[in-house]
Amino acid sequence: MTAAGRTLVIGANGQVGSSLLSQLGSSGVGISRNDADFSNQVDLVRAFDAAGPVQAVINAAAYNNVDRAESEREEAFRINAELPGWIAEWAAARAVPFVHYSTEYVFPDGNGVTWRESDNPAPVNTYGESKLAGERAVQRVDGNSVVIRTSWVYRAGKSNFVQRVLELAALGNPLTMVSDQVGSPTDAADLARATLALLQSTSRGEAMNNQILHLAGSGSVNRAEFSRAIIEAGVHAGVIRSAVPVIETSTSAQTAAARRPTNCVLDCSKARVLGIELTPWQEALTRAVQEMRV
Ligand SMILES: NC(=O)c1ccc[n+]([C@@H]2O[C@H](COP(=O)([O-])OP(=O)(O)OC[C@H]3O[C@@H](n4cnc5c(N)ncnc54)[C@H](OP(=O)(O)O)[C@@H]3O)[C@@H](O)[C@H]2O)c1
Repeated sequence: MTAAGRTLVIGANGQVGSSLLSQLGSSGVGISRNDADFSNQVDLVRAFDAAGPVQAVINAAAYNNVDRAESEREEAFRINAELPGWIAEWAAARAVPFVHYSTEYVFPDGNGVTWRESDNPAPVNTYGESKLAGERAVQRVDGNSVVIRTSWVYRAGKSNFVQRVLELAALGNPLTMVSDQVGSPTDAADLARATLALLQSTSRGEAMNNQILHLAGSGSVNRAEFSRAIIEAGVHAGVIRSAVPVIETSTSAQTAAARRPTNCVLDCSKARVLGIELTPWQEALTRAVQEMRV
């Protein structure tokens, strides 16, 4: 990246936002809900302008509560669809590259296929619908942007699936987990590193062309198997004292407010062609769990 300014990170306190900012150091500047009203475009522009010269913008803010989005549809669309469009407009007006994150939940059940960027999205829940509307709001703006779709994100010290499994396992009771939801666990630090590498290549003149890019941890696993791997890593790292059994169930047997797609794996080969690949999920998990506490 050029030395013309700092990288603006929106959603500063989230898993990916905080990972980006810790890697950017003094070349990053974070904006959180404490700095601006994310539902007010004028307030947002004021906060962005106050950040000083900016060379790139990354939006890591999102309404991520998949179940609650069903009853808070308006709020989910405000943060996941309207906000990214405003940020894209701000970045385009200043001719700075813009990275926005989306999700594998823009797709329905994969039924054994891995989803490519060119596949047609068809979300099965409000969260997925709102994220898809956000992708489209970003792509409608004539700027230099990329939408990175990722999945199953975790980071030590934050609330996420890995942390929840460790906390439940620490209680010593068996866990019940679905075995038909398959995905690619993604370490937020790994994703942040890849995002910054992508921006580096943009500064060398490779435009991002308003494209979509799939970027998730390498490999895939179902929730039950992932839980077993988390527990094993937790025992090995001394985070929990002993392993507990994981009992398998299916998505159809669960009662959640939002429907979740089964077998929803992103094909990340397009990113690999650009020289960007995330760590195999097992390796990233082992590393991250060492920093976790229950
Ligand atoms: N977590 C996952 O498993 C997952 C899976 C697929 C895709 N993604 C995508 O990856 C990106 C990063 O996710 P993440 O896991 O880092 O998210 P996260 O930890 O949940 O952080 C999201 C941040 O968004 C802001 N935010 C959330 N709700 C808000 C609201 N109602 N009003 C205003 N701001 C709000 C907050 O920023 P401040 O605290 O800084 O104010 C929050 O820290 C998102 O686009 C997400 O959709 C995540």
